Amino acid sequence: MEVIKAPRGTRDVLGDESWKWAHVLDVCRKTADDFGYSEVLLPIFEHTELFSRGIGDTTDVVEKEMYTFIDRGDRSITLRPELTASMVRSYLEHEMRRMPQPVKLWSAGPMFRYERPQKGRYRQFWQIDFEILGVSNPMSDLETIDTSMEIYRRLGLTNLQVLTNSVGCPKCRPVYREALKSFISSSPGGLGGLCETCQGRFDRNPLRILDCKIPRCKELTESAPSMIDSLCDECREHFDSVTRGLSRIDADVRIDNRLVRGLDYYTKTAYEILAGELGSQNAVCGGGRYDNLSEAIGGPHVPGVGFASGIERIVLTLEGQGVYIGKKPEIDVYIVTASVDAAIEASALAHELRSVGLAVDLDYARRAMKAQMKHASSIGASFVCIIGGDEMASGAIGVKNMKSGEQMSVPRSETAARIASWGEEMVK
Ligand code: HAM
Repeated sequence: MEVIKAPRGTRDVLGDESWKWAHVLDVCRKTADDFGYSEVLLPIFEHTELFSRGIGDTTDVVEKEMYTFIDRGDRSITLRPELTASMVRSYLEHEMRRMPQPVKLWSAGPMFRYERPQKGRYRQFWQIDFEILGVSNPMSDLETIDTSMEIYRRLGLTNLQVLTNSVGCPKCRPVYREALKSFISSSPGGLGGLCETCQGRFDRNPLRILDCKIPRCKELTESAPSMIDSLCDECREHFDSVTRGLSRIDADVRIDNRLVRGLDYYTKTAYEILAGELGSQNAVCGGGRYDNLSEAIGGPHVPGVGFASGIERIVLTLEGQGVYIGKKPEIDVYIVTASVDAAIEASALAHELRSVGLAVDLDYARRAMKAQMKHASSIGASFVCIIGGDEMASGAIGVKNMKSGEQMSVPRSETAARIASWGEEMVK
């Protein structure tokens, strides 16, 4: 029988990597506190309708990528492909409109999308997600971009590029849709010059054609009219305020007229942050404004703006840029024992050492002392405490400094203090 493996598009994040994730989450949490976002923990599955109405029926996410199933109560349930719709649902469900506005929320956790897996693209991936709900002022758009860039700055990431655009609103977007459609129809290749997917998008979601990576679609839309030229006065003013504010952010910011996001809830501002180290899946962050999402899921008008960033992609970028984020935590002390009685003594010593803040591990496999010493060295322990026959008789502990090789006998009652002070000296 073949050993069962993890499903395609999922991955185990093992000990040599998971500490980097913990570091990313620590930085996010601290930044969230400094910017006034409070953390919410949201369900991993929701009613399918939340996403089909919130994200949009004609998006790739809803049409092709959702993990949807009927539960035992005959309800259609979907593993969340993103967090924004859930954030807005939670805001409405808990009547956060009654709280002082805006409400700033953040969350992190696994998302699920049935995509074609490749480097930086998985079927289960983690996002951090930050949202500002209840205000339509363009300065809140700016605040979300500032939040993401501050997280990346604190993590030590550089060479990021911020792309922004405005996708308009229900008033001006139809004007642009028509302009784009008539441009495509009257271009030399016409509609038939587009790839099959884009031909399908022509009537349902023509803006997505601008996002197609296939060369002949890119070529055909190269000189397409710019979305910015079709914006209504309100959207234009909003866009101008955001771009003016962005000029003070210390980042490489570009306006990208072709930037359309894969989720239908966006209005006005849309942005992405790219990292060259990621290859073809180069977006480390995506976000924007979604003033009509609340209404789409049955609520009142609640403007909102936010972003999400993939943790796998953040870690890949950290590694690609060779950013030093500290070391994998190591064991300070490994306790080697010679007998059952010594092992009982070791358990008490381990407890004492851990209570003063040292990371301690010990042998439970009853291996020979030589094998235990070898294990201590292989896990990178800084010190080994030895409890052999002599130590049991004398009440002392043998302590070996694994870096210098120095070994000495220390009274049992002084072991914790001695190791702690040697540890401090080693750090100096
Ligand atoms: P999104 O662009 O679909 O936006 O995803 C945001 C980020 O999640 C991407 O930039 C990328 O870093 C990561 N990501 C997306 N799909 C995958 C995948 N299959 N594998 C690995 N990482 C992935 C949203 O999800 C919106 N909810 C963002 C938002 C928040 N807009 C407003 N508020």
